[in-house]
Amino acid sequence: MKAVVIKEPGGPDMLSIEKVEKPSINANEVLVRVRATALNRADLLQRRGFYPPPKGASNILGLEMAGEVVEIGDHVTKAKKGDKVCALLPGGGYAQYTVVPEEMLIPIPDNLSFEQAAAIPEVFLTAYLNLFMLGNLKRDYNVLVHAGASGVGTAAIQLIREAGATAYATAGSNEKIARAIELGASDGWNYNEGSFLPWIKEKTNHNGVNIVLDFVGAPYFEDNLQSLAIDGRLIVIGTMGGIHVNNVNLGFILKNRLQIIGTALRTQPFEKKVELTKAFTKFALERFKNGRLQPVIDSIYDWKDVSKAHEYMESNANIGKIILNVTD
Ligand SMILES: NC(=O)c1ccc[n+]([C@@H]2O[C@H](COP(=O)([O-])OP(=O)(O)OC[C@H]3O[C@@H](n4cnc5c(N)ncnc54)[C@H](OP(=O)(O)O)[C@@H]3O)[C@@H](O)[C@H]2O)c1
Repeated sequence: MKAVVIKEPGGPDMLSIEKVEKPSINANEVLVRVRATALNRADLLQRRGFYPPPKGASNILGLEMAGEVVEIGDHVTKAKKGDKVCALLPGGGYAQYTVVPEEMLIPIPDNLSFEQAAAIPEVFLTAYLNLFMLGNLKRDYNVLVHAGASGVGTAAIQLIREAGATAYATAGSNEKIARAIELGASDGWNYNEGSFLPWIKEKTNHNGVNIVLDFVGAPYFEDNLQSLAIDGRLIVIGTMGGIHVNNVNLGFILKNRLQIIGTALRTQPFEKKVELTKAFTKFALERFKNGRLQPVIDSIYDWKDVSKAHEYMESNANIGKIILNVTD
């Protein structure tokens, strides 16, 4: 089969499509002919050599895919050849074939294309894990979502809306804010106009938000804490702006009973990923069928243009997901 390989750790030009060995399945797994995969920020880090795959995972890039089941293992009970499925992967999505344990499969509703389905697993499962399982999201919650037009941000805003809670988004342009509001955010703040803190305080009548979903890290840390309500949770999902914070006031965290939670989907134990996939499928599948939830796609590339797709993600211009069509 063909797959995208990293010639040497480095820039987008280090990616090329080469012949590699087709993976083989175990008894509880299926082999999927991948039709579409999607980019994630983690792919950019892995390409540069900074984010090795977890032990036992494929070293091919790609944390999600959509395609057709072409082979099933002896102990597989429900999946059949020809099923259209998408799934979260620990790696191996940028390839014509990939192996998926049966329990991780999500059926693709008839109304969604492979490209749309490939835009779902990583960002929606991340958002679901953080909001519902770690954030304990409730109807009366206010949630601040940074990078509101990112893949994870656009998924989170929709899930918050569907939970009946209120989302506030920050992003780097008015166009991105407008898209976040279209998806269900109650309001947005363009961070180029200054700190989000006075804005979010005003929006919440100075009560603060119950959850902050943060991808930016160090530069936002102090304002994130100041944005939280009593018992609020800061969920650290990414550190795109930096990792080191100085002068943390622990007294403020104690006094306001704040929680700071770090999270990484890729390294979760397999059982946790299965539990998450099942809970998310129950919550979301019907909503994808009736259109209440939508995969948000920015652009679709043929996988032969994978280097261009990586360059584009690095430019921070995308609103939602960047998809690769995995052709012959
Ligand atoms: N922990 C986990 O389990 C997990 C899982 C999935 C993703 N993630 C993380 O979640 C983040 C979003 O991923 P994604 O795939 O959704 O990304 P994406 O679609 O590529 O969007 C990222 C956006 O973040 C904003 N951004 C980038 N650098 C920034 C900075 N220094 N300060 C403020 N905003 C910045 C940019 O939008 P603006 O123009 O608005 O700045 C950029 O377009 C990444 O950090 C990724 O690693 C974590």
